[in-house]
Amino acid sequence: MREEKRKSMFNSLKGKRALVTGASTGIGAAIAEQLAMHGAQVGVHYRSNLKDAQAVVDRVRSLSGWGELFQGDLLDITVQQNLIRNFVDACGGIEILVNNAGGIYDYVHFSELNEKSWDNTFNLNVKAPFFLIKEAFPHMKKNGGGKIVNITTVSAKYGGSSHNLHYAASKSALDTLTIGFAREGAKHKILANSIRCGLIETGMQKKIPGYTEKLFKQRLNLIPLQRAGTPDDIARMAIFLLSECGDFITGQIFSVSGGD
Ligand SMILES: NC(=O)c1ccc[n+]([C@@H]2O[C@H](COP(=O)([O-])OP(=O)(O)OC[C@H]3O[C@@H](n4cnc5c(N)ncnc54)[C@H](OP(=O)(O)O)[C@@H]3O)[C@@H](O)[C@H]2O)c1
Repeated sequence: MREEKRKSMFNSLKGKRALVTGASTGIGAAIAEQLAMHGAQVGVHYRSNLKDAQAVVDRVRSLSGWGELFQGDLLDITVQQNLIRNFVDACGGIEILVNNAGGIYDYVHFSELNEKSWDNTFNLNVKAPFFLIKEAFPHMKKNGGGKIVNITTVSAKYGGSSHNLHYAASKSALDTLTIGFAREGAKHKILANSIRCGLIETGMQKKIPGYTEKLFKQRLNLIPLQRAGTPDDIARMAIFLLSECGDFITGQIFSVSGGD
């Protein structure tokens, strides 16, 4: 009996309705595909990269039978407020939300950072997840529960560097939202956790003007396991938390970072 239960651990994801933000590439794409691999119905949200998002949703459909694309710039408050409703209209409810879309506006020394970059970074990494969770909460309550994973960074632990202090601070605020929403959600069986990513090899670093190969290598040397992570390293942790394996885990912040 116990063995049977062990075998079926990830089966609890079958048929679950999951929205993953920023799922066109990198970590979000890996989480979307692994959710679908375990039978979840997945909403693939993207901002501008339709080509890659389309490839992800095609794979999702072939794995689980249900996948839809959702487009929107999460800097826009109307997208922040309407994305969940659009997803629920398409599949009738939501049990899983992965706040993965995120990033840094302006990788520059803090002495040169302007207000717009500060605001955009906090808007995308804190305000957007806040409004998405706020909108998802009533639906999850109605379903009898739900699970939320917020993707943050080990920079939140260290305070970032001189060039990404604002990014680290915004992700630290998202970790605080995780803890607060976990407390508020517990009585409704809504569980929330953060995954703090270490250095993960995705396209993200290449998109940051000023972030060089040399900086990447220097950063690599600080990692005890001496390698960058892969999107699947993060997706496996997300699957663990979002499946039955995570049923007694909430309000926690996990580093997946090669010991960093
Ligand atoms: N890679 C790392 O080393 C690392 C480390 C720590 C934390 N993280 C976090 O992990 C998450 C995923 O990063 P990644 O490395 O997988 O990056 P990525 O490959 O660049 O993917 C970022 C995703 O977010 C979407 N996105 C970006 N800005 C958006 C906006 N304004 N509105 C809506 N969607 C937006 C992108 O959409 P489009 O491409 O379609 O525009 C894309 O789907 C982020 O939250 C990041 O902060 C990454």
